Amino acid sequence: MVAFLMPALGFEHPLVLVLVVAVTTLAVVAIYRTLCADRYPRNLPRIGAREGVPWQQMRKKFQADCLAVFDDAYENYSKRGQSVLIPVFGPNDEVILPPTSLQWLVRQPEDVVNSLAAQVDSIQLEHSLGYKFAYDPWGGMLIKKDLNSAMDAMCAIMSDELNAAFEATFGTDTQNWKELDLFPTCRMLSGQLTQRFTVGDSPEGLKLARDKSWVQSCYNVLDGMLDVAGAAASYKRFLRPVVAQWTKRAMPGKLGDLKQRFEPLYRERLSIVERKGVNDNIQGPRDLLGMMMDYAVNERPDEVLNLDDMAKRLAVMNFGTMHQTVLTLHNLLLDVLGSDQEFNTVSVLREEVQRVMGPGDLGCKQWNKAKFQAMTRADSICRETLRVHTFLGRAVQRLVVGKDGLVTEDGIRVPQGAMVSILAHQTQTDADTYKDPHKYDPFRHSRRREAAAEPGTGKPGLHNLSFVATSAENLPFNHGKHACPGRFLVEYEFKLIMAYAVMNYDIELPESYGGKRPPNTWFAGFGIPPLEAKIRVRRRSPG
Ligand code: HEM
Ligand SMILES: *[C@@H]1O[C@H](CO)[C@@H](O)[C@H](O)[C@H]1NC(C)=O
Ligand SMILES: *[C@@H]1O[C@H](CO)[C@@H](O)[C@H](O)[C@H]1NC(C)=O
Repeated sequence: MVAFLMPALGFEHPLVLVLVVAVTTLAVVAIYRTLCADRYPRNLPRIGAREGVPWQQMRKKFQADCLAVFDDAYENYSKRGQSVLIPVFGPNDEVILPPTSLQWLVRQPEDVVNSLAAQVDSIQLEHSLGYKFAYDPWGGMLIKKDLNSAMDAMCAIMSDELNAAFEATFGTDTQNWKELDLFPTCRMLSGQLTQRFTVGDSPEGLKLARDKSWVQSCYNVLDGMLDVAGAAASYKRFLRPVVAQWTKRAMPGKLGDLKQRFEPLYRERLSIVERKGVNDNIQGPRDLLGMMMDYAVNERPDEVLNLDDMAKRLAVMNFGTMHQTVLTLHNLLLDVLGSDQEFNTVSVLREEVQRVMGPGDLGCKQWNKAKFQAMTRADSICRETLRVHTFLGRAVQRLVVGKDGLVTEDGIRVPQGAMVSILAHQTQTDADTYKDPHKYDPFRHSRRREAAAEPGTGKPGLHNLSFVATSAENLPFNHGKHACPGRFLVEYEFKLIMAYAVMNYDIELPESYGGKRPPNTWFAGFGIPPLEAKIRVRRRSPG
């Protein structure tokens, strides 16, 4: 055999061949071991090790029942203030830190543990859209910096769109009940509202926001991005760039469609920006795209002149504004209806909306900050939905980027390249914090806030129990300086949607559900809502 191969390979001496084969084999093994090796220190507990469960078996368990692995990690390690290594989706591992380390973790320097690097790792923008969209996320910076001052305009835009968005999705029939597939309905409803405040404050943009095929095109790109992220998660990090060449093959088509539909709007906005450049008095569109164009003109002039780049920037923005919002809205409506028998949730909401907005404002036009804040019960409903039905099983994900790794509070040196996080669902449903922790109790938080009302004014107390207040007890938006900056907008969006829905529609679950909402399931570390759920709606007659 060797003699046969030798001439073919051109080796003149058998010893050379043996040497080459040996060195190559050693090199391959060395490279593979370096890339795949368990580089975690011995003193980091591995889940299941104490009970002698082999790691590969734990990995299979995660694939079959990730919630059980999370529960085990929480019960046996997090609750005792200990770090633990668990298998997560695909061939990957993650170091779960205890919730008592939350404040400590969010204070760690960015060059030790990095939030952006963790996001890039889980969303894979680098592969779905390209390097600069992952590592120069200026759209997100804008939301952080400017959303607060743009909030009133955003809300005015949203409330103006409510009626159109509901009529397009829930319908106008006041006589007959209509059964809706809830998830696609939420996608279109929230999609139309979101596109209205993203692009809708100009003639071309308004056309798009109300065009179902535009909203669908936005979701197609979003779904494509999720596909790339999901496929990447099935591989070790060092293989992802290779695998991505295959998994991202659908992206150009989806992006091309978005870009083509976006072009007339882009041209319109470019000309507005040009006119603004010579005349300071021109008030540009006050939507997210307006903010993005204004920013890019000054800070990324090469991008603003590039249709392709701006379409991709819009796709990143849509990922932030649409993905989790829709999943949460879906859960929210199911929770409202599923808790109605026991808590009269719909009537309580109606009472609150009428009290706060005034009986003459069923369309929710006359909103203001004070009114939103006064909707304590609606606020509690939203918080309870994300407490019980959070999408991200792990919160505060950070990639360890420091050369020397990260030394945890329990004294374990986690190496560079490791991912650390805290379990959100288990922390939020801890029996030591919440009575009947897995029960959806819509007014759980508002009862406490009303009991702590400021004497005299009657204003609810305990602002740290509001929807947007993050803490170890409320992690769906993360915590610290990378907490979701969009949550203030989400709060208004959900309150507007709920208020409008209950004032203008009768809503119920199909009879066959027996008053109960279908449960969420856990897969790959995510809480997935029942996407096939249906609801029944009928427009209420005015007066
Ligand atoms: C219910 C809906 C939403 C949920 C549950 C949610 C949750 C989150 C979470 C968990 C993060 C941290 C990501 C990470 O560290 O991996 C995040 C980041 C972010 N979110 Fe949201 N989000 C929602 C809606 C929105 C909306 C509507 C916007 C925009 C208006 C938005 C803008 C952002 C931005 C810009 C970041 C990046 C912040 C940073 O890295 O510093 N989000 N969001
Ligand atoms: C905690 O560990 C014990 C064994 O040490 C195991 O029997 C138990 O199921 C674990 N807890 C959870 C919630 O899995
Ligand atoms: C909220 O504030 C109260 C009183 O200041 C405090 O006792 C409580 O622990 C806080 N809760 C959370 C979740 O931060």
